[in-house]
Amino acid sequence: MNILLLGSGGREHAFAHFISQSPNCTQLFIAPGNAGTASCGQNIDLIWKDMDSVWDFCVSHHIGLVVPGNEDPLVAGITDFIQQKSNQESIDIKVAGPDKYCSTLEGSKDFAKMFMMQNKIPTAAYRTFTKENIQEASSFLDTLQPPYVLKADGLAAGKGVIITEDRQEAEETLNEMIVDAKFGDASSSVVIEEFLKGIEISVFVVADGENYHILGSAKDYKRIGEGDQGPNTGGMGAISPVPFADDVFMSKVEERIIKPTLEGLAEKGHPYKGFLFLGLMNDQGEPKVIEYNVRMGDPETEAIFPRLKTDMLELFQAVSSGTLNKVNFELDPRTAATVFVVSEGYPGSVEKGKKMDVEIDQTTSNIFVFHAGVKADDQGNLFTNGGRVTAVTVLEESMIEAMKAAQLCASAVKFEGANYRKDIGQDLIKYEH
Ligand code: AMP
Ligand code: GLY
Repeated sequence: MNILLLGSGGREHAFAHFISQSPNCTQLFIAPGNAGTASCGQNIDLIWKDMDSVWDFCVSHHIGLVVPGNEDPLVAGITDFIQQKSNQESIDIKVAGPDKYCSTLEGSKDFAKMFMMQNKIPTAAYRTFTKENIQEASSFLDTLQPPYVLKADGLAAGKGVIITEDRQEAEETLNEMIVDAKFGDASSSVVIEEFLKGIEISVFVVADGENYHILGSAKDYKRIGEGDQGPNTGGMGAISPVPFADDVFMSKVEERIIKPTLEGLAEKGHPYKGFLFLGLMNDQGEPKVIEYNVRMGDPETEAIFPRLKTDMLELFQAVSSGTLNKVNFELDPRTAATVFVVSEGYPGSVEKGKKMDVEIDQTTSNIFVFHAGVKADDQGNLFTNGGRVTAVTVLEESMIEAMKAAQLCASAVKFEGANYRKDIGQDLIKYEH
């Protein structure tokens, strides 16, 4: 089968790596891709927003499956678009991702909160404000304990959540978001919610509309600095599985969150097909949903996929045909530690074009190198091309061994100004049995 993968991050290099290893993969195209994906398939210039061109490319290149890496095409409805075209023109092209309705779980915080309330899924208490009811926000803030959590309703490139201890700042921020359109249309509605205490964890699910498998848990390290200090990033590293996500916790997640989520969507006539990423807070063993994402995480994918023993295309085909229950689903019990090497200055502005050397033996089966902001010249020399540059993942029997080995690999990704967190996984050592 020919595949079209959309995206250009480390997550997409991980997708490309495992898709290209499948015996069922004939040709893999990646739009736009990066230097890493180029070693797994052919990078192409195709803008997903131009969906007609995506369709034309799929038809002319006999694509059987489109795999969107990030949320934007899904929230914009690429699944519905391709399905409609597919029906109209009687050409069978599938998309490995949920439809537009289901993708609204990520595309609108207000929709996600309403959905959780309707389906009694544990989450923070909230209210949504717009221009019409902004004057009621002050009395709602009175009902909350600080810190205050404000979220732009729509997609805001990971920047739409503001958490502040200061009541006045909360009100000012609300005004900036709604009245001054700080995040454009995305903040014309703002969710204000209760602050959840606990430790964050992500759980990943793959669903075919009827059946599902849990792909495991991961912890992401969002802040730039060690000890979770400094500004938020796209993610500086990950550990999978998370040692505190024991069977008791995971069964609560499954019964209270995964099942009612999938059943709630199916009841609305929109069975969920694709990857579902639950951003959770674990408050003393009790899981609550912080957010839904309708895709895999980056860098969580780089930690989780190396643990997945099931053939990637077999998984996608089962998602399309509703036969996930027949797939031999297996996860490597070893722990994966992923460390992202980033450019100096990230998450602020960075200088690109630094010559890179990756001094890692990539023939070792438990070591993975996934490129994100990396480009290559005609001779195959690598250069930095963004903030997050290269993610390295190591699988080991114990978390501590994986962490140490991943640090060593990160130090072998060399370029001027390379930076990475030295403490990925440190906070989890106390939970190791
Ligand atoms: P989100 O984009 O909804 O994942 O929010 C970004 C980050 O803000 C999350 O990963 C959490 O660290 C934090 N956050 C969001 N909502 C809450 C909440 N209700 N309580 C505590 N922290 C939160
Ligand atoms: N690592 C967080 C995300 O992919 O949204």
